[in-house]
Amino acid sequence: MDYSNKKICGPMVRCSTLAFRLLALEYGADLVYSEEIIDYKMINAKRNYNELFKTIDFTVDGTEKPLFQTSEKEKGKVIFQIGTNNADRALKACKLVENDVAGIDVNMGCPKEFSVQGGMGAALLKKPDQVKEILTTLVNGLSIPVTCKIRCLHTLEETLELCKLIESCGVKAIAVHGRFQEERSRMPNHDDFIREITKTVQIPIIANGGSNDIKNDEDIEKFRVNCNASSVMVARAAMWNSSIFRKEGTLPLDDVIKRFLQISIEVDNYFFSTKYAVQQMLHEELSSVRGAAVLGSLAGEEIYQIFGMLDQYNDLQQRKEDFFRFSALKRKT
Ligand code: FNR
Repeated sequence: MDYSNKKICGPMVRCSTLAFRLLALEYGADLVYSEEIIDYKMINAKRNYNELFKTIDFTVDGTEKPLFQTSEKEKGKVIFQIGTNNADRALKACKLVENDVAGIDVNMGCPKEFSVQGGMGAALLKKPDQVKEILTTLVNGLSIPVTCKIRCLHTLEETLELCKLIESCGVKAIAVHGRFQEERSRMPNHDDFIREITKTVQIPIIANGGSNDIKNDEDIEKFRVNCNASSVMVARAAMWNSSIFRKEGTLPLDDVIKRFLQISIEVDNYFFSTKYAVQQMLHEELSSVRGAAVLGSLAGEEIYQIFGMLDQYNDLQQRKEDFFRFSALKRKT
């Protein structure tokens, strides 16, 4: 696995499902990250192959929605992002997916209270010993590459020190979101910090934080050049319209939403995950009649009807019913 010269679809809680990742790959992303999955939840998940949809589902007993889902179609291209504050637990969780994913990424940038108070995400930026322990445990214990995703610290010196420490742990790349922990996404990104990091460490740097100015593939390249980075990770701009990864140009939003709904059928995406992603795609028109209808929808058929795809949705329900009937029959005989 090489992290240079890659266009990457970044991790986004609730959005970066298998269906969304397959969409981004189809449009030209080279690598796709899962949403952050917390280690203590993951260690309780069981791996199942879903014969009907040909997906690999990691689900915790008693829950309906898989914690993590992948498939042959994203093999070699999906990075599993872990949220952790504990090296041994992180390793235990990552071991479960080691043979199904291309790499592991440790989230060291999440500023949300839940993460930081739990000693995870951005809380790790100020805990070099813990960073070292987590990363070296994962690097030594796993057969796949390990990376991490950070935010910038308040001074360039501190940020460079952190990156040197991370590099010394044997990770294969660092994704850098060019903002400080308390800075919101509408604020300018510190591209200058990312530029300096690329001059200080040898491993590939993945520039992140440029979505406010990214509308198409050319903008992704501009951001990469401006940061002097090896690769670019795009999160929000990809969530709003994944076809920004297309070399041939960004597609109209309706085409993208319909393709997403089609893929969601193919992998049986969980309804609320489908709804959340469509809501994000429609972020600029949520007050329209259509936007309000999506917001108010309580079942898959409502969203599929809004986009004129009810037949495809009903076919899916029929396939599921047939499959379960056939499986029950097989068990009896
Ligand atoms: C995020 N981000 C994020 N980061 C991360 O490391 N793990 C995660 O699970 C999430 N989840 C998440 C959800 C949503 C809805 C958003 C908008 C963002 C942060 C994200 O990956 C990225 O670092 C920032 O959005 C900045 O990059 P862009 O959006 O400017 O490309």
